[in-house]
Amino acid sequence: MAEQTFANQKAVISGATGQIGFAIAERIVNEGGSVSMIGRREGALQEAVARLGDQASYALVDVDSDQEVADYIDGFDRVDIVACTAGWTVIGPVEELPVGEALAMFNSRFFGQCRMIKSALPKIPDGGIILLCSGVGNRAFYPYYAFGAAVAGAIEAYSHHLAGELAPRKIRVNTISPGWTVAAEPDAERSSRAAKPFASEGAQMNAFLQSLDSPMHEIIQPEEFADALVFIARAKHYTGQVIRLDAARSVTDNPLDGAVEPFSYAPQ
Ligand SMILES: NC(=O)c1ccc[n+]([C@@H]2O[C@H](COP(=O)([O-])OP(=O)(O)OC[C@H]3O[C@@H](n4cnc5c(N)ncnc54)[C@H](OP(=O)(O)O)[C@@H]3O)[C@@H](O)[C@H]2O)c1
Repeated sequence: MAEQTFANQKAVISGATGQIGFAIAERIVNEGGSVSMIGRREGALQEAVARLGDQASYALVDVDSDQEVADYIDGFDRVDIVACTAGWTVIGPVEELPVGEALAMFNSRFFGQCRMIKSALPKIPDGGIILLCSGVGNRAFYPYYAFGAAVAGAIEAYSHHLAGELAPRKIRVNTISPGWTVAAEPDAERSSRAAKPFASEGAQMNAFLQSLDSPMHEIIQPEEFADALVFIARAKHYTGQVIRLDAARSVTDNPLDGAVEPFSYAPQ
């Protein structure tokens, strides 16, 4: 039997109660590893652990906090994989969107990843894997999404630099960039946590929502990001790269050759 990709590997995963983080956690467990999942909602974490079994555990950690992240990682002797997928976003015209809200979003979604990585680095052995999560916004125009674009660009620039810095330790750093991704059974409450809208006109939000569609007119499944991690784990010299799973949205600014149906969990 072929060896499991993550046999005896220990992973820490932020955003593990989210769509992409959970899919990654599930794959690591199914391929022989163990996962420690973090988030801020204990009920959701307990549910996630119950689904994954003995190889999964959880901790309540807010990635906005230097101290909480440092204390959490301190409890590990070794961390082979750090997967950072925690985050949320802001949507709205730059004139209306308070910069403080964008700052809060950067604190979770960009600096949260930086905190995880900084704390984990002393525990990561040679050959370890760091996975960051950006978003397609910096590679395609989405109306009223300036800060979503900016945070994705920041994450990718940081990841690119870090890959060079850590190459001598053979620690590999890559980023996944999701296009419009929705789990097969979406969590009904997800939209209210995942995105804060700041548009005063419904037409602005509709313009944003319609721009989520891709030239393939298909929604990406979270499990595809788990496939990406398996690829990264097996391709031992793959580092400093961005895996763009976005159904070609990043290669065109104007994919809409027909109106898309508003999706069910869209903020109203
Ligand atoms: N899905 C998409 O279409 C898409 C597209 C582009 C980019 N992205 C980005 O990719 C990342 C993953 O996407 P997803 O769809 O898997 O997101 P998701 O389902 O909304 O899950 C986000 C996760 O982040 C956690 N989180 C948020 N803030 C946190 C904090 N301060 N401390 C700890 N955990 C925190 C949430 O857990 P708690 O609420 O329990 O803390 C949740 O588990 C997000 O940053 C998202 O913005 C997603």
